[in-house]
Amino acid sequence: MRLIHFKRTIFWVGELIYTLCKFWIKNPLETKAILRFIVEKIIAFPQFFSRNVFIEKHSRQFERLLFQTIKLYNKHGRNFNLKNMRSYKQLEHKLPNKAQILYFLIRNTKPNIIVETGVAAGESTGLILQALKDNRKGMLYSIDLPFQWYIYGSHKLHLDSLPAGKESGFLIPGELKKRWKLILGNTHERLPNLLKQLGEIDIFFHDSEHTYETMFFEYQTNWRYIKKGGFLLSDDISYTKAFKNFLKNKRVKKIVFKDLGIISKD
Ligand SMILES: C[S@@+](CC[C@H](N)C(=O)[O-])C[C@H]1O[C@@H](n2cnc3c(N)ncnc32)[C@H](O)[C@@H]1O
Repeated sequence: MRLIHFKRTIFWVGELIYTLCKFWIKNPLETKAILRFIVEKIIAFPQFFSRNVFIEKHSRQFERLLFQTIKLYNKHGRNFNLKNMRSYKQLEHKLPNKAQILYFLIRNTKPNIIVETGVAAGESTGLILQALKDNRKGMLYSIDLPFQWYIYGSHKLHLDSLPAGKESGFLIPGELKKRWKLILGNTHERLPNLLKQLGEIDIFFHDSEHTYETMFFEYQTNWRYIKKGGFLLSDDISYTKAFKNFLKNKRVKKIVFKDLGIISKD
């Protein structure tokens, strides 16, 4: 461990403790969830620590993921039928990271406008931007509020932390950022205005706060802006019943790829 890693550890742990204490003071009734979170993170500490301190390693891994995804798409992309569940099943073991499916979907549909919520280090964002670059068309608008602690499901605490001094999307190679607009803020405040400005969108991808309220709010708000033939995608649909309830009374087909829900608006 070099001096830089030591400094990063001090600042990152400091930010974790400071933001957690602020959350605890505001939510004293969630003490049990907070203590459970602390124990879980201590158990999984090596991985949690490595991703937030040894960020050069994480960046190299991500560059490899981008490269592998392009290679896999060149091999299997032409046979990929995005409305057929069997097609997704065939890819399940070939794509280790579920966000890789975004690359396949975007290459095959060639969208103009994509809206995404939740960036963090930028894995899904980077894959989307790589697909737009390879399509030579399209723009991605992402909304992110970094270091957001929240409670989901039955009293579970969640945080996607960023390494000290790093901004949302720090993993994304600079040359991919030309087709990207990042909006920092809460989706409840920023999404309605963004959609009003854009008018119509091709794809919406949810990966921000996985609480029932936020998931349902984002699906509902985006749905009427999605073009006919467009897609609504959501990561981690098993966290709450929002995806299931949103689909009730809608005549659309649902596809699930490793807990990532996909619906097309026909
Ligand atoms: C699951 S991570 C995103 C992961 C990312 N899509 C990827 O594939 O690497 C969720 C991100 O959404 C942010 N977030 C949480 N609640 C939010 C909210 N209400 N509005 C905007 N962003 C939020 C978190 O701080 C975090 O950066």
